[in-house]
Amino acid sequence: MFSCTLLFGQKTTVRDIDRRVEELLAKMTLDEKIGQLTQSPGDISTGTDVSKDNLLAGIRQGRIGSVLSHTNFDNKIVMQRTAVKESRLGIPLIFGFDVIHGYKTIFPIPLAQAATWDMAAIENVERIAAAEAAADGQNWTFSPMVDVSHDPRWGRVMEGAGEDPYLGSRVGEARVRGFQGNDLSQPNTVAACTKHFAAYGFAEAGREYNTVDMSEQRLREMVLPPFEASARAGSATFMSAFQALNGVPASMDRHLLTDILRGEWGWQGMVVSDWGTFGETIVHGAATDDTDAAAKCLSAGNDMDMCSGVYERGLKNALDQGRITQKQIDDAVRRVLWLKFALGLFDDPYRYLDKKRRTETLERPEYRQASRDMAAESMVLLKNDGGVLPLTPQSPFKKIAIIGPYANSQGNKDYMSFWTLGLGVREYDSTKVVTPAQALKPALEEMGFQVTVAEVCLDATCTEKDYSVALQAAREADLVIACVGERGIDCGECRSVTSLDLPRGQETLLKVVSRGNKPTVMVLFNSRPLVFPWAAENVPAILVAWQPGFETGNALADVLTGRVNPSGKLPLTFPRHQGQVPIYYNHLNTGRPQTQMGQMWSSGYLDMPTTPAWPFGFGLSYTTFRYSDIRLNKKTMGMEETLEVSVVVTNTGSRVGEEVVQLYIRDLSADISRPVKELKGFEKIRLEPGAGREVRFLLTKKDLAYWNHEAKFKADPGKFKVFVGGNSQDVKEAEFELR
Ligand code: GLC
Repeated sequence: MFSCTLLFGQKTTVRDIDRRVEELLAKMTLDEKIGQLTQSPGDISTGTDVSKDNLLAGIRQGRIGSVLSHTNFDNKIVMQRTAVKESRLGIPLIFGFDVIHGYKTIFPIPLAQAATWDMAAIENVERIAAAEAAADGQNWTFSPMVDVSHDPRWGRVMEGAGEDPYLGSRVGEARVRGFQGNDLSQPNTVAACTKHFAAYGFAEAGREYNTVDMSEQRLREMVLPPFEASARAGSATFMSAFQALNGVPASMDRHLLTDILRGEWGWQGMVVSDWGTFGETIVHGAATDDTDAAAKCLSAGNDMDMCSGVYERGLKNALDQGRITQKQIDDAVRRVLWLKFALGLFDDPYRYLDKKRRTETLERPEYRQASRDMAAESMVLLKNDGGVLPLTPQSPFKKIAIIGPYANSQGNKDYMSFWTLGLGVREYDSTKVVTPAQALKPALEEMGFQVTVAEVCLDATCTEKDYSVALQAAREADLVIACVGERGIDCGECRSVTSLDLPRGQETLLKVVSRGNKPTVMVLFNSRPLVFPWAAENVPAILVAWQPGFETGNALADVLTGRVNPSGKLPLTFPRHQGQVPIYYNHLNTGRPQTQMGQMWSSGYLDMPTTPAWPFGFGLSYTTFRYSDIRLNKKTMGMEETLEVSVVVTNTGSRVGEEVVQLYIRDLSADISRPVKELKGFEKIRLEPGAGREVRFLLTKKDLAYWNHEAKFKADPGKFKVFVGGNSQDVKEAEFELR
């Protein structure tokens, strides 16, 4: 199953590769084997300081089998030539890189991509990212990140697909397909790396790298499904997580890496640690020294050491002390070599280092169009009171002021994120990003609007004067477009926050501008759900643009002018207040659910409703959709039968639009408390004005199963509810019985 996926298009077979691996393994010394389990840092550091001894010497001596984060193409050729021509056995290197939302052409952040609920579009952008990365000498991307999370304080929610395991599973599969295609040896595909295994997104207090403590039940139902889906989609590799899960550092967690990943799921790929984590097991206090750490990580099933040097310093001693066996080392080396054979690196070590292909592939114009399409499709319309949007020649405005810190920013990787290493880290060409002002101003002027741009800096140096510039612009305009949100560089790893408020006083800016008494469209550039109670109440139109990537301005113009009708749906709940966090749709009912704020003896707060500002799955359109009542093909479903659920969705507005029809269930009669809703299906449909379409879903007992006290997934007979709607709150419902 697994290996066939990787070799599908290749002339070679699993048996061929197995044979070649064994032949090579038989020739290798222990040092050379440990070298294959060692990954060395490149010219970009994405973690704590680690030793970067003489890389070429290490490659030549066979002490390094992989390198990561190398951006210099010529250097990669030199490294590969050193490995192939100057090391004793000539084993080629594998080059790893974080291709998180594009490589040279930058796409919207992964959370934005998830907001499209469009798996074909997600697969397509990863196919493009793989083509660029492979053309630039990378063989292996550390992606997809499939960590479910309920906590927007955590900076890495931007890298995943939000709070739901079902959506996360479909997105993970699409990303793996996009990266790997059906032939890993093709020079336009790369090996995927599903990460971070596991439960990293549930760090206590949303604090980066913090402890995770959770039941097996929640692990199985909320965390693992996207990992299993990616494994079954053929992800060639996995990456273990940083944090301790129930006291065990994930990089040495046998229950995860061997019992579940390899034992239960039958996955045969290679596991790499996260940056330096083998050494961090000692800092966790779960290992005493390099030998102990090496023994525990290898015997747990962790194959490759990313940059800690623990395997190089400790594996031999661990073997000599009988803490691990030669077979355990050999099995790990087999998995590394297998991947290199599957990538075609032994047949042609320079396959991914072709200068002509690199020139022809990087930043092709059609890639930018894909980025623009994805960005426009990802944007989520939260409010549009009075139909302020779209802006057309028929709109009752003539003068438009585009204001705010993100009207025309060209710094801090704005409209992108930290995870755009293919561009460089601090020095990058910011002119490659089309800003809102650059695209929106001409687009609106072409429609006859008069447009001014009032950039407002909002950092420590800001003064009231800066607001006055924006206020003046607002006074002179009929409509204000306020571009607010987060800096791109504040999105990603090691970017947890305690406050979800709009940063640096931006809500104050909105209030000041409102003194101009002009309708405002708030455009949010964000990497996570943020909290803006005043704006939520007082700003008539709010568009979540996320961090849209290279084509920010053009995509925004497409949506604000109606060239693209917004169809994005929230993959993560937007809270009213960070005090509600964690807040998510698929919660348990409790024994005292609150139906309204202030209700005594109920599960709620004194100062805030329990409901979110905007729920999971929410997003408006410039048109409207009507849902018929749910039809079931039976009211009673046998355990081995399939239940058909259908609705008719009609476009009741005047514009063509796309709707994500979502299917949820609720188990009313399990032996344990079950979530009030669970997403079990969705379909994105496009409807012309006035058109209707029947949407069908099929449910089997597998969809109705839960992790029970017998430690397995099983569906109980009894009553269920089924819900269908355009978000997780406004739904039609029906009931059926499982027998
Ligand atoms: C980082 C991240 C991981 C990334 C790796 C290599 O610390 O946690 O997601 O792939 O190191 O850059």
